Amino acid sequence: MMKRAFMLLGSLLLILVGCSQTEEAAKQSKSTGLAKDEYRNEAFKDLFPLHYESYMKNKKEEDTKYGGSVKRSKFEHDKEPYLPILFNGYGFATEYNEDRGHVYATEDVRNIKRITDKSVGSCLTCKSTAVPKLIEEMGDNYWGANFNQVIWPKAEAMGHSPIGCSDCHDPQTMDLRITRPSFIEAMKTRGVDVTKATKNEMRSYVCAQCHVEYYFEPSKSKVTFPWAKGFKPEEMYAYYEEIGKQQGFEKDWIHNVSGTPMLKAQHPEFETWIEGPHGKAGVSCADCHMPYERVDGKKKITSHYWTSPLKTIEQSCLTCHADKSKEWIKTRVEEIQTTHMEMLHKAEEVSVFAHYYVNKMITAKVDESKIKAAQEHIRKGQWYWDIVAAENSTGFHNPQGTMATLSKSIDESNQAILIATEELMKKGIDVDKLKKEIEERMEAVYNEADPFKKKDHAITDSFPGQTPPPPAKK
Ligand code: HEC
Ligand code: HEC
Ligand code: HEC
Ligand code: HEC
Repeated sequence: MMKRAFMLLGSLLLILVGCSQTEEAAKQSKSTGLAKDEYRNEAFKDLFPLHYESYMKNKKEEDTKYGGSVKRSKFEHDKEPYLPILFNGYGFATEYNEDRGHVYATEDVRNIKRITDKSVGSCLTCKSTAVPKLIEEMGDNYWGANFNQVIWPKAEAMGHSPIGCSDCHDPQTMDLRITRPSFIEAMKTRGVDVTKATKNEMRSYVCAQCHVEYYFEPSKSKVTFPWAKGFKPEEMYAYYEEIGKQQGFEKDWIHNVSGTPMLKAQHPEFETWIEGPHGKAGVSCADCHMPYERVDGKKKITSHYWTSPLKTIEQSCLTCHADKSKEWIKTRVEEIQTTHMEMLHKAEEVSVFAHYYVNKMITAKVDESKIKAAQEHIRKGQWYWDIVAAENSTGFHNPQGTMATLSKSIDESNQAILIATEELMKKGIDVDKLKKEIEERMEAVYNEADPFKKKDHAITDSFPGQTPPPPAKK
């Protein structure tokens, strides 16, 4: 397919330039004529009008039952209404939205309330085509440089594009390529040299530059993927407990209800997929999310409209599942997702209760070591639901694996509640009354209409905030 496109392009260039079939021309026949560090999407438009047009479809905003691309808050009633409690004390309790099309990435990172005057360059890494050039120019100073004052103005002055052609393609040969060093380095820790990747592996690796769990390694604020022990939620947790802590990375934030040092998970599509049935069978991200599409009535190209495959079941799924109908596929996926959401909501509720029980342990002044023990279970319990909740397929990429992870989450949060209950009883605290008070907080957060104010209802006089005061100014 790609070869054919290049032969066409090659002959077109020959006609345009009018040069003869010299050795030089033959050498260049696989070149677009673009600069090797071209990063503006518009530069590719005239050479690849059909791909450009397909890419521009990412502007469409259209939802499916659980996924899709309308800009919506995750706090809405049919999504995850208790997140403002679960992320209390952290930016994710202020604003957290569903993902949408690649073309919106720069606009969305610019406007999100989580970006503050302290945010670093690393936040732009998965949003803009200027990033590889910024890293080339600034070296390791890119990661920790100030987002608002240094990095954003630089990228804007360069005329960058949101996630675009040069992020996945060599602009001269159009071969697939990796542009984000964090992925290359993390795969090395798995013993994989990505320069030796097969064509099929590249159809997932280009996505794995961004659709992964990561943290900012503390010495340089560098985007780092916690994979040295493996891709499973347990293995990434073990990484944070050992390697993360050795580096001085202990937490993303202190929870404002339970005072627990917490980890925040981010969109681990690659890790979830690789442990699931399709990943294990070598079915790539592009197989489902970039099916062939017919354009111009006849030509077939690889679709560059990255969205829910449920919008293109015939091209995305029936190519392999030829014995199934479109309806069967849609129903099967939605069944997986509905079961998944029920379990996810259950895990979130138990985690909410655990946070408040520990808040009560703190105000009732129970033994410090018991509080620490309960907090340890809270940290783990929330990690196990968040690594699933932050994943964007609502369980589809690994139905069995995510269920097992959620069940671990519930188990951990319940252990925190168990420790707390025992200690609170010793102090003569009425646990039934406590449960009622927690339900009142959940209701207040749920009923607040302004998403930005929801988090404020998590805290009251009977559940005082546990965020430590900022360090005193010198
Ligand atoms: C076997 C097909 C298949 C493969 C392979 C696959 N996905 Fe998906 N993906 C889906 C389905 C189905 C959904 C759920 C869509 C929905 O809920 O509407 C989904 C959802 C998503 C979403 C959320 C989309 C939305 O509408 O919000 C993202 C992002 C995503 N996948 C990325 C990836 C990445 C990255 C890979 C490779 C690491 C991958 N997927 C591999 C089928 C697949
Ligand atoms: C997120 C990664 C990604 C981005 C961004 C991207 N592509 Fe692609 N592109 C792919 C993948 C994957 C393929 C399939 C390659 C294969 O299987 O050999 C592909 C294939 C192509 C092909 C080969 C012909 C075909 O239809 O298979 C062309 C030409 C192309 N892309 C042009 C573009 C242009 C132009 C842009 C920017 C407007 C762009 N791509 C942006 C991942 C990307
Ligand atoms: C350079 C980073 C980057 C790369 C590479 C990348 N993505 Fe994304 N992707 C994002 C970001 C960031 C968003 C969310 C954008 C927003 O909400 O503003 C996103 C959103 C999505 C969505 C959600 C769209 C919707 O309709 O809700 C899908 C699906 C998706 N990506 C699939 C893929 C696939 C498949 C690949 C590989 C072929 C890929 N992405 C490569 C960063 C990337
Ligand atoms: C490139 C081929 C390919 C494509 C494309 C593909 N699948 Fe699959 N699918 C497979 C294979 C292989 C298996 C694993 C069969 C096994 O493990 O026995 C599988 C398994 C499944 C299963 C059973 C999973 C389980 O938990 O056991 C479902 C459901 C499914 N696919 C749905 C889809 C949907 C929905 C799409 C489109 C979004 C899709 N598939 C696209 C090849 C594909």
